[in-house]
Amino acid sequence: MAFIEVENVHFSYNPNEINVVEALDGVNLSIEQGEFVAILGHNGCGKSTMAQLFNGMLAPTAGKITISGVLTTDEEKQFEVRSAVGLVQQNPDNQMVAGIVEEDVAFGPENLGVPPLEIRQRVDEALKTVDMYAYRTHAPHKLSGGQKQRVAIAGIIAMEPKCIVLDEPTAMLDPRGRTEVMETIQKLNRENGITIILITHYMDEAVQAGRVVVMDSGHILKDGTPKEIFSDVPFLKKHDLDVPQVTELMYRLKGAGLPVADMPLETEEGLRMLAELIQ
Ligand SMILES: Nc1ncnc2c1ncn2[C@@H]1O[C@H](COP(=O)(O)OP(=O)(O)OP(=O)(O)O)[C@@H](O)[C@H]1O
Ligand SMILES: [Mg+2]
Repeated sequence: MAFIEVENVHFSYNPNEINVVEALDGVNLSIEQGEFVAILGHNGCGKSTMAQLFNGMLAPTAGKITISGVLTTDEEKQFEVRSAVGLVQQNPDNQMVAGIVEEDVAFGPENLGVPPLEIRQRVDEALKTVDMYAYRTHAPHKLSGGQKQRVAIAGIIAMEPKCIVLDEPTAMLDPRGRTEVMETIQKLNRENGITIILITHYMDEAVQAGRVVVMDSGHILKDGTPKEIFSDVPFLKKHDLDVPQVTELMYRLKGAGLPVADMPLETEEGLRMLAELIQ
């Protein structure tokens, strides 16, 4: 059994007695411990609903989700599930609870009942991991968006989760903040072995994952390596999804008759291919 198992999951919102919104209609997904998975898809296709199902904030209307074999709906294991899977959301301001950075990071482990001495260690460690230790006594509201989001991530790390789900964590950040947060996510996955599920609208972020899951209207449309997903430009275009800029460029050059053998995903790779083409 994989670390996360999503089996035939359906989810409906029932905002009032009359309307029912089918957000997910039969999702199957297995994620192994240590994977870095990006989830892509149009507005309203069910990504945020998935994010909240992963850590038990929402319960499937039908089907089931297990984390290390534990059902997310098991009332007695709520605590275990929520501490195993941390959730970072889009707006860092909504995730700040305290007036000082280190107090904010301590909030999660305090709620878990971690002893004070250990909290101190975890907070320092988490702030160092996201490179925000120097700001530990600062007021969160004075930080940049990227810094705030890294503090929010530190708050999750301090709970020592096995997995972090990030729901468009860079959507409200400037390019520098986006890079800072993406570097932090990469580090958590590579160095700390934390399973990452990154929901994003940015293709240049998705190409950094080991695996890309494309969703459409409540189900999974395609699941593969970034190369498999992004090389298939006609598929992306058919579903109105963006193509990484460098991939788009090479795709057009190929269309214009140039001998382009492969589709690059990252700028460096594209530059190398361009240099070969013009030799
Ligand atoms: N609280 C709610 N009550 C009713 N319907 C909802 C609620 N939250 C989401 N929905 C609906 O459920 C569907 C899936 O929404 P969800 O937020 O999961 O999509 P998303 O892929 O995260 O979209 P986005 O890219 O805009 O963030 C949409 O049709 C949305 O309108
Ligand atoms: Mg969303």
